[in-house]
Amino acid sequence: MRGFLQDIQNTMREIPIPTDHHLYQSYDQQEEVDRINSHYDLDPEFYYRFIGGTWNSYSALYWTRDDMSVTEAEESKFDLMAGLMGLQPGMRILDVGAGWGGPLTYLCQRYDCTGIGLMLSPKQQAAATERAARCGVNAKFHVTHWERFVDSAGFDAVYTDEVAVHFNDLSGFFAKTWELLKMGGIYLNKEMHYTHARYTLMNRAMEHINGVFGFTGNYRLLHDELKCLHDSNFELLKLLQIPIANYGRTIDGWISRFLRARKTPCGTEQRRICQGFPQIYEAVPHRFQHEYDVDGFDCRQEDRPGRASLVMVADPAAFCRQVSPTAVR
Ligand SMILES: C[S@@+](CC[C@H](N)C(=O)[O-])C[C@H]1O[C@@H](n2cnc3c(N)ncnc32)[C@H](O)[C@@H]1O
Repeated sequence: MRGFLQDIQNTMREIPIPTDHHLYQSYDQQEEVDRINSHYDLDPEFYYRFIGGTWNSYSALYWTRDDMSVTEAEESKFDLMAGLMGLQPGMRILDVGAGWGGPLTYLCQRYDCTGIGLMLSPKQQAAATERAARCGVNAKFHVTHWERFVDSAGFDAVYTDEVAVHFNDLSGFFAKTWELLKMGGIYLNKEMHYTHARYTLMNRAMEHINGVFGFTGNYRLLHDELKCLHDSNFELLKLLQIPIANYGRTIDGWISRFLRARKTPCGTEQRRICQGFPQIYEAVPHRFQHEYDVDGFDCRQEDRPGRASLVMVADPAAFCRQVSPTAVR
């Protein structure tokens, strides 16, 4: 372990100190697609090996018991999200940033919904389509940037799970989501948020982390996001925190499986990610230092018309807040 930490320190020393520190980068749509796909459009098996679980959810899971398996922690997260979205049989749901299709497939199967998932990676789409067929659910996956997605039937719920971070036009995304929802529909965003503008300054660790994701880490301040939601006509129903320990436990699992699997031969792109991967996830918790108390509130009323936004605010610890539910109050 000592040698490993030393390796991390050495790697950190080699990372150049960034001159342009700020997040909220702006680039055109094609560049956004290219940046995102530099990380996600790789052999799915490469990811499955370290993400683990039945559903391969590439985001923080929800560990409600010590003895939970990865699959159980995935499903407890999905169930929490389903409850927050009020999923009922027959509902039509949209997963923007659907990964390899696991979350949407689970929700459609468990809650008897029909779904559409969007992603930018053709490899993810093929894997997701195959998974939905194998599980016998009515879920379709499209390779399309959310901006280009067209639908006239309307959705009962739209959700993003650690995807909004990649959007450089967050206001545009919320406006689009509002249009895609049926009256009374729910938007749920599980995401990390910064709690102060100083965290948007990139340090060397953050520069390195962001680089692995093609510099698409547009983490927001929570207050900015809420303002964007408000400006897009959403009503906030609930803020919910997931303790940051859930994020820590999720990435601890990724790292240990990653280290076990790292000897498996892989291509150039995978090697680029391999080089940074454990360091990235070791570095992240160091940014989760600050306490932030979103006292969950719930202003949901039965039969309230209009579209609603539901933001799950991840544990306040820091670098950005893992918008993950802490406790439903
Ligand atoms: C961190 S993964 C999260 C996957 C999934 N939500 C989960 O929790 O397992 C981010 C996903 O967002 C997708 N994505 C990023 N930007 C996108 C965009 N502009 N339009 C559609 N999907 C996007 C990526 O292809 C990837 O599948």
